[in-house]
Amino acid sequence: MLPVIVYGILAFLLGFFIYFTYQFRAMEKKAESNEMPEEKTSVFSGFYGYAYAGVLLVIVMILFATWMFVKGTPWEGHLMEWMNIVVRLMHITFGIAWIGASFYFVFLENALNRTEDVRDELAGNLWAVHGGGFYYLEKYKVAPKTIPKHLHWFKYEAYFTWLSGFSLLFVVYYFNAKAQLIDTNILNVSSLTAISIGIGSFIVAWIIYDLLCKSPLIKYKVAFTIIGFVLATGFAYFYTHVFSARAAYIHFGAMIGTLMAGNVFFVIIPSQKAMVNAAKRGVPPDGTLGKKALARSLHNNYFTLPVLFVMVSNHFPSTFGFDYPWAVLAAITLGTAGVKHYLNLKEQGKYTVWVLPISVIILLAVSFVTAPAKNPDACKEEVKFTDVQHIIQQRCMTCHSSKPTDDIFTAPPNGVVYDTPNDIVKLKDKIMQRVVITKTMPQNNKTGITPEERNIIRCWIEQGAKVE
Ligand code: HEC
Repeated sequence: MLPVIVYGILAFLLGFFIYFTYQFRAMEKKAESNEMPEEKTSVFSGFYGYAYAGVLLVIVMILFATWMFVKGTPWEGHLMEWMNIVVRLMHITFGIAWIGASFYFVFLENALNRTEDVRDELAGNLWAVHGGGFYYLEKYKVAPKTIPKHLHWFKYEAYFTWLSGFSLLFVVYYFNAKAQLIDTNILNVSSLTAISIGIGSFIVAWIIYDLLCKSPLIKYKVAFTIIGFVLATGFAYFYTHVFSARAAYIHFGAMIGTLMAGNVFFVIIPSQKAMVNAAKRGVPPDGTLGKKALARSLHNNYFTLPVLFVMVSNHFPSTFGFDYPWAVLAAITLGTAGVKHYLNLKEQGKYTVWVLPISVIILLAVSFVTAPAKNPDACKEEVKFTDVQHIIQQRCMTCHSSKPTDDIFTAPPNGVVYDTPNDIVKLKDKIMQRVVITKTMPQNNKTGITPEERNIIRCWIEQGAKVE
């Protein structure tokens, strides 16, 4: 009965807010067509915004209510999986839109024709052909004399990328902190402490970065980059000494993503608003605001590839499974930002060729250093399958069986089960990767596998993974 009442109320609220988004939109349109002053129409667009936020809020409440109702039932895992899919898809989609815009506008800035046929008030122009049409773009030095009525802003892709990413952090790591976020072999803390450290670190990172940008250091690009890189490495070191390696990687990415969204929210958009308002009042806009916003926008551009790497790395245990996961993170950040630097220089017509090979060498060095040992100890005796099966039963099947006994995983993770000998043989390559090379299984070594046992598994696979 309770679900019916709760869903009934929420459905009513949803209909209510949707109805009013339409109403306020219509009022705004009408006011506009009656040539009402802008203050009047902006009241309606304000109400429209609130109604829209109401719709989103009710959707979140519906999800939350559903979670409360299925908590502790077999549907809980299923709901989490679908939330994961939906939120992840949103995150990727907004992220593509945001990074695409970042690439595009930094390209414009780099490739702008600043010399030929450029009117005095312009910084430059650019011709482009795309999708069968010819485009002509002009960039103003500061701002046009009159601000056009329809001015496109680029901000929601940034905000929604951050919001969906933050939600994903909850869905994957925070709702399941004991299993995903905390590795008691690294640091034994409560879920609440770990989550607070995670969220707190984003705030601290923003404060440090923002102060650095406002300090005189910003004028010295090389010094700023070096100090920024050292600090980022410090964060990587910190995260890998607090969280499980995989969670540490995601926190590093989320930390940089937070700086990026912070740049948009706290600096770029407010600067643009101030410039638009000044132009509307007929005062010459402050050009330094635009320059500051451009610098932040450029930082964001350099952050894109490192962040993308980190997001993808979660699927590759050879990155976070290395003994010094923070060093891999630092090196890949350097290499991928280097690649972006090369692309930016190239767009400016500067063929600084060495930047690319150096970046690629850094990235290749990572793959070389993280490679498994070439000559592990030779396996002396033939390993019996029963020994391997015994280890797997003891160390893996608490999670990886059709009926797990683990306190957190009530269904086999990733559908991996080791119920029969064939189940084990089939997955021998993955077992080699996760148990022997990267040592990322058992997860956080919860079941306490020993180095000797890892070696037995390795020898068995090297000897051909025979079942007899
Ligand atoms: C505490 C629970 C737990 C234990 C114990 C455990 N695993 Fe896992 N395993 C997981 C989780 C969770 C995942 C999915 C996340 C991931 O890939 O890291 C996983 C994923 C895997 C994968 C990757 C599957 C894929 O689709 O890529 C392999 C292989 C694996 N485990 C093997 C093992 C082996 C072998 C052992 C025993 C030596 C073991 N696991 C012990 C929880 C566990």
